[in-house]
Amino acid sequence: MPEQTTSAFLPRVLTGDRPTGQLHLGHLFGTLQNRVRLQDEGLDLLVLVADYQTITDRDSPASLPQDVEELIADYLAVGIDPARSTIFAHSLVPELNQLLLPFLSLVTLPELLRNPTVKEEAAASGMTALNGLMLTYPVHQAADILFCQATIVPVGADQLPHVEQTRMIARRFNRRYAPERPVFPEPEAMLSDAPVLLGLDGRKMSKSRNNAITLAAGSDETAALLRRAKTDSDPNITYDPAARPGVSNLVLLTALCEELDPREVAEQIGGRGAAELKRRTTEAVNERLRPIRERRAELMRDRGYLRTILRDGSAHARGIAAETLRQVTAAMHTNY
Ligand code: TRP
Repeated sequence: MPEQTTSAFLPRVLTGDRPTGQLHLGHLFGTLQNRVRLQDEGLDLLVLVADYQTITDRDSPASLPQDVEELIADYLAVGIDPARSTIFAHSLVPELNQLLLPFLSLVTLPELLRNPTVKEEAAASGMTALNGLMLTYPVHQAADILFCQATIVPVGADQLPHVEQTRMIARRFNRRYAPERPVFPEPEAMLSDAPVLLGLDGRKMSKSRNNAITLAAGSDETAALLRRAKTDSDPNITYDPAARPGVSNLVLLTALCEELDPREVAEQIGGRGAAELKRRTTEAVNERLRPIRERRAELMRDRGYLRTILRDGSAHARGIAAETLRQVTAAMHTNY
């Protein structure tokens, strides 16, 4: 059997988010900046508004159209450029969803049940019995990635089991249906090297935990949120994430905003205490977010434009998906 490597495929980046609320500083430093960098390096970037993935653990809410618009506004405000990159949604690309069916035939129930991220999400959602989509959405996520033959998938560490499952599906599909000429690359996960930002309560920053500073938050709201961030009673500010998580997290946030080393920020504040640290952090966040917030507010005043971006991006994604589906159809002998 020939070596099936990703090198036969052009580099393409695919990543996405569930439209469940506004993005926050954890997203900005964890993934959004990285996406913009890849785009600016000239890579072909696709960003998915993963609307069908939101119904794994909730009903599709009436607020979904607004949630989708907020997400697109976040993307554009941080610098994802629709002239160079593609923003699209599951529900607008039927050919992507069609791949789910053959892909489901390539995975076993024990493999699906083993996925640690699914287990955690099912537990966190409090569902008493796993629904079919919660169990199989990683296979649908494989379709998200493979429909465009993506080779690079920027994600957080919690998504690694899904990328692993995607690689396995690509491998099995190629082996079963296209051993001579693989249809799918085996995509690589790309982890951000930014350290994890904690939320205001000391746990990982996350929209569901309600401990985040969103990109959309106003500067007064940001100041109020930071005022209640956890610190400690040692007035000498140091960067020591293990021993002083609260203080170090504010130092880190300041450093990320100011593009400095956290140790340098800590030294500059020195013995001036937590109040000075919070003042500096508030200023740094508000400075860093000012242009993003201005752009975002402007974008949210033109919902029609945001919808157009999504429709145009999805039309482009459909073209890519149709070509992949053509190759899949030929490989599976269903081209009658
Ligand atoms: N599961 C991802 C999350 O919850 C969102 C997502 C959907 C995604 N499809 C994707 C991420 C494809 C990367 C690639 O954040």
